[in-house]
Amino acid sequence: RTVYVNGDYLPETEARVSIFDRGFLMADGVYEVTSVLGAKLIDFDGHAVRLARSLSELDMKQPMSKEELLEVHRELVKRNEIDEGLVYLQITRGSDGDRDFVFPDPETTEPTVVMFTQSKPGLADSPAARKGAKVISIEDIRWGRRDIKTVQLLYPSMGKMMAKKAGCDDAWMVEDGFVTEGTSNNAYIVKGNKIITRALSNDILHGITRAAVLRLAREAQMQVEERNFTIEEAKEADEAFTTSASAFVMPVVEIDGVALGDGTPGKVAKRMREIYIEEMR
Ligand code: PDD
Repeated sequence: RTVYVNGDYLPETEARVSIFDRGFLMADGVYEVTSVLGAKLIDFDGHAVRLARSLSELDMKQPMSKEELLEVHRELVKRNEIDEGLVYLQITRGSDGDRDFVFPDPETTEPTVVMFTQSKPGLADSPAARKGAKVISIEDIRWGRRDIKTVQLLYPSMGKMMAKKAGCDDAWMVEDGFVTEGTSNNAYIVKGNKIITRALSNDILHGITRAAVLRLAREAQMQVEERNFTIEEAKEADEAFTTSASAFVMPVVEIDGVALGDGTPGKVAKRMREIYIEEMR
């Protein structure tokens, strides 16, 4: 695989980052995941805008323009012959060669920029989406700025492992009884023809797929309600699904062992998945 590190395209085995990098020592960095369908980047603009916001919320400078980032994304897709998959981008605060809680001087410390591709055949025509996902609920104990897409992913990663141990696919996180989001996706329930999802705030990541799916749902004359819902309400819903750049629209068929509807992907979830893929490819 050819990867990108700080201006260079290199074989992955030759890519190097300092052990003092604050991304490595302190999870002091942000990332984006942009999916690729038919060798085409999906919603790159949305990801670039959210990246700029994440950087600015953490007082980090934007090391490259949106156009330069797009150019590298396209080049990596081409060099690695990605048809279906994703481009991962990470920007960390870099380092001044030491470990310190205080941020290094941004005038003399360059951020570290890393990008690589992952090939994921079957992203669109996905057996997992045909089956639907089983989720467990876990307490959301993450920090209070989940709107910033930082690389602090230990708890979501542990959540996925808890789900796997329970024979499930993913976990929905719950705070004060209300579902925040999935470990790496936004969460939705469906009642009748109404799609319900938590409103945007610092409590959740402002999903790029979420924005597109809600726009497409409204264009298809479906009702959308942006409000909190409890895990109990979710278990009684007709259907549920999640959205993310890495899985698009993923039907959820079971929550904490309770089957939704007949335990197969619901019609609204399936329709939104079709509409989204159709629109984006
Ligand atoms: N995760 N919520 C969380 C906590 C996420 O990590 C993600 C994305 C989303 C969905 O955002 P988007 O639609 O912009 O992908 C919501 C990425 C895909 C990941 O960590 O791999």
